[in-house]
Amino acid sequence: MNETPLLSQVDSIIEKYDGSKERLIQMLLDLQKASGQNHIPGDCIIKLSDKLNMPASAVFEVATFYSMFNMEPKGKYIIEVCKSAPCHVSGSKNVSEMFEDALKIKMGETTPDNLFTLQYSSCFGGCDVSPAVKIDDTVYGNLTMEKINEIIDMYRRK
Ligand code: FES
Repeated sequence: MNETPLLSQVDSIIEKYDGSKERLIQMLLDLQKASGQNHIPGDCIIKLSDKLNMPASAVFEVATFYSMFNMEPKGKYIIEVCKSAPCHVSGSKNVSEMFEDALKIKMGETTPDNLFTLQYSSCFGGCDVSPAVKIDDTVYGNLTMEKINEIIDMYRRK
């Protein structure tokens, strides 16, 4: 059976980290990024565990323990709207509604073009610009509808 393009990248990702089991989290992060849909398919976990001589259950355990890993496909960009207390108080509900309007999806959903997933998150340290959102590793704050549309356009053009 032919390997999927992602499955065939498992070897090079393992190689990049010298096959070190201690670097499992980095390997999983790379795989998730390479998936293009922000998730780690089960067949990749099985191949990774085989190659690292680890029980698949141990790799699954790591992948499901950390909230940054997704087992189901998501959008290429995950828009995380902080709903911890400081952001909540300064209007994260309003921000999530503006993103819902701009993307025409509800919180927890992915756009039909698989580009964006909208989800809540807990504090990621952007409290000084609350209500804050995080896309990839970039934090955005002081958001208005105009700014949100600009941000979405920028990611669409990437
Ligand atoms: S409380 Fe929202 S980023 Fe910290």
